[in-house]
Amino acid sequence: MENKQNQSVQQNQSMSNSAVAENWSPASWRGFTAWQQPSYQDTAALESVTSQLANEPGLVATGEIDRLKKELAAVAKGKAFLLQGGDCAESFAAHSESAIEKSLRVLMQMAVVLTYGGRMPVVKIARIAGQYAKPRSSDFEKKGDVSLPSYRGDIINGVGFTDEDRIPDPARMMTAYQQSVTTLNTMRSLLQGGLANLQEIHQLNLDFAHKYSTTDRFLEMASQIEHSLQFMEACGIAIDSPYLSETRVYTSHEALLLPYEQAFIRQCPETGKWYNRSAHFIWIGDRTRQLDGAHIEMLRGLENPIGLKVGPSMQPDELVTVCQKLNPNNEAGKLTLIARFGAKKINDHLAILVEAVQQAGLNVIWSCDPMHGNTVTAEQGLKTRRYEDIFQEIESFFDIHQKLKSFPGGIHLELTGADVTECTGGAIGLNEADLEARYHTQCDPRLNVDQSIEIAFALSDYLVAGR
Ligand code: PEP
Ligand code: CO
Repeated sequence: MENKQNQSVQQNQSMSNSAVAENWSPASWRGFTAWQQPSYQDTAALESVTSQLANEPGLVATGEIDRLKKELAAVAKGKAFLLQGGDCAESFAAHSESAIEKSLRVLMQMAVVLTYGGRMPVVKIARIAGQYAKPRSSDFEKKGDVSLPSYRGDIINGVGFTDEDRIPDPARMMTAYQQSVTTLNTMRSLLQGGLANLQEIHQLNLDFAHKYSTTDRFLEMASQIEHSLQFMEACGIAIDSPYLSETRVYTSHEALLLPYEQAFIRQCPETGKWYNRSAHFIWIGDRTRQLDGAHIEMLRGLENPIGLKVGPSMQPDELVTVCQKLNPNNEAGKLTLIARFGAKKINDHLAILVEAVQQAGLNVIWSCDPMHGNTVTAEQGLKTRRYEDIFQEIESFFDIHQKLKSFPGGIHLELTGADVTECTGGAIGLNEADLEARYHTQCDPRLNVDQSIEIAFALSDYLVAGR
């Protein structure tokens, strides 16, 4: 694989060097400490799989990546809103057409409500078609007297609590790639085939509002959207026209497993720029964002729009340095800071970071991940999150930005289109005793379909009220 990359670098020697970050190559991360990586026993198998992957077609096109960055530039300028969401961890076993359809549909339903509430376009990015690698707080998982290496996502090892399952297996990378290919193909055909039909999506939102008709606001807002659609039709705008029915949903995942990510770094022959073609948008997790670490090194050389998780340990000067490293040309739309503090901590941490970014004049999108700082353990031992904490963190995020005259650009959620019971609360009124009924996540608890749509309605109301 490296030979192939060297060849392409040589072929492009005549290209202006400004397209490539200084002292960077797709493999330069190997000279830095890479956190949260599995240690593969069979290094020959690892080499063989990664070279095979490097010869496989990329999952997304460079033109699509550029287009997303342009759309995100509008978010950075306060003219659009970012909705990012999906599974905490995709699973090989749960892969199905209907699961993909449900995930897309819930994002679409939320986007319609947010577009109406925010009066601006919504850029939709799913955590899908590659979200298979998980950072872990502990290297080992203990059950009773047995301690085994932690599950690190289906691309690395198996979720079963057995010695065999937990051995990292490079062949899983090929399965992850193949499954991402079929996921993406399904997404593309569903989106072109009418899944995004505005009237149908709106009907589902109306059904939701009727189901929870004790909350007047849902019905009120759904009927306002209804009137807007009727108005559009009366004006002669066909709401089933392809223009309104086809929509874009971009793909994203955490760029955690670096040998896999490297296999998809490809150089554009025309411009000499380097793209990670495994997804449109990739992000660096809160546990792998060390300034001198391998993840920052790899991502700093890429053209893709990237995300950086920002948790309570981030210091203001550190944030400024990392932003300058990841976005040296201060391009709008290039960098999304995904704040994940927890409802209790956000008020102590976010404002000072927003101010540091403002003072340094950095172009970033601020997005709110109200999931990862709000994980608690229910009495029976299941990890859960409370709807109330999630929404409270979103409210604080909006309040802080409003006070500082900064744009709250988006939300980043772990959610599913299925009717699971993993987070408590919301209008659906799930409590801890309900969690066991349909607790299907391979990793963190996700909002279910109704809780997700409720977030969109509640947030829209907030967006309107905040004006
Ligand atoms: C995640 O988004 O799944 C994740 C692990 O987040 P964080 O890095 O913020 O903990
Ligand atoms: Co998670």
